[in-house]
Amino acid sequence: MSGLYVDDYKVSVKYCSGQSVGSYTMSYGIEMIRRHVAEYIEQRDGHKANWQDICLTAGASTGIKHVLELFCNEVDCKPTGIMIPIPQYPLYSATLTEFGIGDIKYYLDEDNGWALNISELERAYEEGSKTHAVRAIVVINPGNPTGQVLKRGNIEEIIKFAHKKKLLIFADEVYQANVYDKDSKFFSFKKVMTEMSSPHNCVELASFMSISKGYTGECGLRGGWMELCNLDPGVQENLYKAMSAMLCPPTIGQIVVDCVAKTPACGEPSYELWNQEKCAILDSLKERSVMIVKAFNSMKGFKCNMVQGAMYAFPRIELPEKAIAAAKAEGKSPDVFYAFKLLEQSGICIVPGSGFGQRPGTYHFRTTILPQKPLLKEMLNIFQNFHKKFAEQYA
Ligand SMILES: Cc1ncc(COP(=O)(O)O)c(C=O)c1O
Repeated sequence: MSGLYVDDYKVSVKYCSGQSVGSYTMSYGIEMIRRHVAEYIEQRDGHKANWQDICLTAGASTGIKHVLELFCNEVDCKPTGIMIPIPQYPLYSATLTEFGIGDIKYYLDEDNGWALNISELERAYEEGSKTHAVRAIVVINPGNPTGQVLKRGNIEEIIKFAHKKKLLIFADEVYQANVYDKDSKFFSFKKVMTEMSSPHNCVELASFMSISKGYTGECGLRGGWMELCNLDPGVQENLYKAMSAMLCPPTIGQIVVDCVAKTPACGEPSYELWNQEKCAILDSLKERSVMIVKAFNSMKGFKCNMVQGAMYAFPRIELPEKAIAAAKAEGKSPDVFYAFKLLEQSGICIVPGSGFGQRPGTYHFRTTILPQKPLLKEMLNIFQNFHKKFAEQYA
């Protein structure tokens, strides 16, 4: 952050217990900041938000883990299963494994810009129900690692599906400020659900936000929030009780949450500079999102969907048979083999698609649009040269 928030910061400190950031706060976060988050959500969605249903967390990860923990038990002697997208952000698969919860995988439709098809949700649910009590669905919007932004109609379909199957929706919306495509727009699950008629506006929903993304990117300070909608009051009370055992999220992280939720208003001294910085960061990310997709799609054997939002590209690569055989000989999956060769020969680090999940027989990797433009340009040039040589070597 640029130090623009001195006045707001003082306001926040006034509301800390002991008037110090060194004191514990309320377990669900400082009340004034929870109220500011509610105001942010009201402005974003045009609907009432109840500050008591908002908890501040040490990053979205902590909130997600707290809510996932509610599903640790069996139902009618069946282990719980939670539907997760493939590809997915690995926090979900890792935490489900840790908690002994089954991951019910639904595949995103790569050929349609990583769209989320309801027929695929039905297939995954039917399959998963044979072995698990399927009780929740995770949706990441905008997507990590896939970069798609869900259309409003698609969100309505997911809500109807969740209602039909009695699922709680985990709406992972940490990239809500990161939408670059002019034809895409972020709609929160809360907004869409609130605007649907009964009974679909009663679906249980937990939505997550973070200070790690957007234009702030203060990931090391650990801050975020979750908003709970339509949860059974007894369940919510128990969740709050479990959270209180962890004392409180970091105070500094909470104060950055306040900066994200309560931005300088037009006319205030900080407004011009804040707005200038915010627009510069988001405009640059937008340029980089186009630049990276263009470069990958110019490379033989690459196919990269548009980065509509979030911070990543997730191209598919066709690997030559010889490279696949060489990978097998080394006991590596082909995408891991490719990623290691790239790292060893160029110093560029990518994450192989198998870390996120991909359809069997397909190979991908994730890279980020975060390096500044000159560095990204240089990286893409080096990458192109590497890939040319790699393709020749294993032709
Ligand atoms: C989709 C998604 N959800 C959650 C997180 C975790 O965010 P935080 O740093 O707030 O814990 C990330 C971080 O990369 C993410 O990409």
